[in-house]
Amino acid sequence: MNMRTARRHLFLCLAALAVLVPALHAQRTGFSRDEYVRRRQALVGSVKDGVVILFGETGAPPAGHFRQDNDFFYFSGCRDANAILVMAARTGETFLFLPQQSPREEMVGGSNLLKDSAAKDRLALSDIQPLSYFDEYLARNLERLGLVLYVRLSPGDAVDEARSEVGLMTARRSRTHYNDQLSFDNYRISKLRDRYPQCELREIVPFIDALRVIKSEEEIAVLRRNGRISALAVREAMLASRPGGFEYEVEAAAVGAVLKMGARGPAYAPIVGSGPNSCIWHYEKNERRIEKGELVLMDFGADLDMMTMDITRTWPASGKFSDEQRDIYRTVLEVQKACIAAFRPGLTSKDVREAVALHMKKKGLDPRGLSGGLGHFVGLSVHDVGPHGDVVLKEGMVMAIEPALYYPEKAIGIRIEDTVLITRNGCEVLTADVPKEIDEIERLLAGRK
Ligand code: GLY
Ligand code: MN
Ligand code: MN
Repeated sequence: MNMRTARRHLFLCLAALAVLVPALHAQRTGFSRDEYVRRRQALVGSVKDGVVILFGETGAPPAGHFRQDNDFFYFSGCRDANAILVMAARTGETFLFLPQQSPREEMVGGSNLLKDSAAKDRLALSDIQPLSYFDEYLARNLERLGLVLYVRLSPGDAVDEARSEVGLMTARRSRTHYNDQLSFDNYRISKLRDRYPQCELREIVPFIDALRVIKSEEEIAVLRRNGRISALAVREAMLASRPGGFEYEVEAAAVGAVLKMGARGPAYAPIVGSGPNSCIWHYEKNERRIEKGELVLMDFGADLDMMTMDITRTWPASGKFSDEQRDIYRTVLEVQKACIAAFRPGLTSKDVREAVALHMKKKGLDPRGLSGGLGHFVGLSVHDVGPHGDVVLKEGMVMAIEPALYYPEKAIGIRIEDTVLITRNGCEVLTADVPKEIDEIERLLAGRK
């Protein structure tokens, strides 16, 4: 090899490393002070008067990490338990109230931001006060700030559940009167009504959702990184799958990969369904042995800096699609790609559906029985907030496109899902780093050890 060729090789190696290294070591960055200022100003600017009161999460889920309430985090940046945030529209002041911890609490779980003298400036807060002062603050200041309390009357969403799904789960658990306790939010609302009868309570959720649905530059940067690491993780999972192996081994490969790349963990219980399980939309037992000739459907996304991701890939366990699997796969893939090609600002979901139907007709493919389709918004929640019905696409929206066909009688379930960002002229696929073309999938699987 002459010097020139050697230099060229070195350059190519360095260029490849430059692409790979940031993807493999995605840092948690969080959000800047300016981001919180911008969000709060937009919120109080839209409600115009009164006081917005938001309550934080009360504790960690069983065997899980503490994860702050989405709405609360969006405006506070605070990741401590049992906090209250107050934002006053007339003055722009923002107070965070936090519990005063006992020495034992601090020893066991660490101190909250009440003990962090730099937090007030870092999060652009007027002040951080002990929680025991919250009612005194309201009593002293309500007349000055306006007798309207904006609170969350609709359900809060969760990392893996839309507001409506949280409501649905409440309804389901309430089918027995032993489980029909009201939510924390319901209780807080009645307490505020009792304590401050002079105030009018108003719904804050539509104002919050109008902001959350359009992603900022900083959020887009996090979502892009999450798209990349989640895609690389699904790729790892595909390589870890094999006939005779277990569904949970596939899950383990993806979870391990995103943890290594900086994520907090999965954004929802990973779905790995082989054979008949590929037809169960949200199958998550992930305990079956994968047989040869079967399909494996994996639905996975990471939670990075409180932003989620959503990917589904379906592949043949043995490495080659059967003719029947291939035909069905091609139909789902054509629908998915036609959706992506149609997405651009100004179009409605009805326009997109019509464009897809036209494309399928031209291709002579019949997508009857298709489910999933346009999917849902993605952000702090994997089923994020946003308008319902005939949605008008806007620049900065992030959506999952997830068409699927299920044939339980054949044990064939095929779903192909990508998360996309609506850009000025079209859309950007955030999860493109995991193959979905038939030949690409077969090539990747042929390289398994
Ligand atoms: N991961 C859940 C969904 O695709 O909506
Ligand atoms: Mn999904
Ligand atoms: Mn989805």
